[in-house]
Amino acid sequence: METKDVVQRDSFGSKLGIIAAVAGSAVGLGNIWKFPYITGVYGGGAFVLVYLICIALIGLPIVLSEFVIGRKAQKNAIGSFKKLAPGTLWFVPGIMGLVAAFMILAFYGVVAGWTLEYLFKAITNSFVGKNPADLEGMFGGFISQLARPIFWQIIFMGLTCWIVLAGIKGGIEKASKLLMPVLLVIIIILDIRAVTLPGASEGLAFLFKPDFSKLTGEGMLNALGHAFFSLSLGMGTLITYSSYMSKKENLATTAVQVTIADTGIALLAGIAIFPAVFAFGIEPGAGPGLVFITLPNVFQQMPGGYFFCILFFLLLAVAALTSSISILEVVVAYFVEELKLARRAATIMAASAITIMGIPCSLSMGVWSKVKFMDKTFFDWLDFIASNVMLPLGGLLIVAFVGWYLGREKTEAEVTNEGELKAGYLPLFMFLAKFVAPVVIAIVFLHGLGLF
Ligand code: PFF
Repeated sequence: METKDVVQRDSFGSKLGIIAAVAGSAVGLGNIWKFPYITGVYGGGAFVLVYLICIALIGLPIVLSEFVIGRKAQKNAIGSFKKLAPGTLWFVPGIMGLVAAFMILAFYGVVAGWTLEYLFKAITNSFVGKNPADLEGMFGGFISQLARPIFWQIIFMGLTCWIVLAGIKGGIEKASKLLMPVLLVIIIILDIRAVTLPGASEGLAFLFKPDFSKLTGEGMLNALGHAFFSLSLGMGTLITYSSYMSKKENLATTAVQVTIADTGIALLAGIAIFPAVFAFGIEPGAGPGLVFITLPNVFQQMPGGYFFCILFFLLLAVAALTSSISILEVVVAYFVEELKLARRAATIMAASAITIMGIPCSLSMGVWSKVKFMDKTFFDWLDFIASNVMLPLGGLLIVAFVGWYLGREKTEAEVTNEGELKAGYLPLFMFLAKFVAPVVIAIVFLHGLGLF
């Protein structure tokens, strides 16, 4: 029955594929583009520290909570809640996740499009001989164009849609399992180059020496929101993916591994970027362009920089792709399983609607950059509401569902694979799930919104 279910619900053929899919979803633009950029905006070390605390106390327990829900119910995000808590309102976080998926993929597709442009620029050797100011101008000039970023966004969304449609997610996830270690190696090489640049230590101090005077409520909320974003939490992605996991999988070990890998890659990306930011005199709070402005400088200072640069942007695009298909999958699984739409129609509809919603995001970097509401552009608003409001609230409900509704016995049965495995961490996990995670999320959330 179980195998039949997996086959019918079409997805990953093997255990390897599922783990690769979860890691592929977590590791993406969040680690390499967003983490360094918001760390720069919110002042460095103290922000990083809050981020790491959020990952350990909140992120990890919620990863495990989503795994418990998904694997127990073996359904999409909304269907899982309906199955485990029939006749209740517990499906609401599933609906919120669906909306968050729409919003996140809208701006994610835009930034992923930028990586394709940069891949193209790398291949055509466009960075050669450019100084930091030129590279900054190059990025600004590119994102403020009308058509070109949208062109790349459409290409990227087309690729995402095509992979989901062709049902070859398993293939791409397995390929990414081979490719992501290569990306890791490039980042480590970049790290070595970056930390040996003159003036690098200032960048490391910025990243790792907390200066609490720079920490604001808004910064803390962003650290929390980013913990969710980076781990693909709070919107049912991991519920959906774990619904395909085998009943033999050790959920806790997998949760720890994914969390460590995801956080490690973000930190390594930070180590590649901040020393270079200071060495080249770039503004750490430069915003969404930080990675695109900084790294081409570093590649120029490296033997073989031309090839490394191509490989880096290629793999960054692949990392973005394995994340974007996981976001689209949340929407498609819902349309197919709950609304009984045909998979093809569901995929094309969802991808088109999301791409259209992404267009104003792209424009808000250029022609619409002055169109702001409370100092945020359309792009900023989508990111803010999805990452900092919907994901933490979704996560709060998910963890509370496991802590309070499912309760210890059912959770224990699921994490121990019906008594096969030991789970000495269970009391700690239940404590985090019932009390710590919900309370901390609520406090950071209200404080960040200025309500507390
Ligand atoms: N975790 C992805 C990243 O860090 O790039 C982004 C993401 C994927 C967010 C899936 C949310 C999600 F459900």
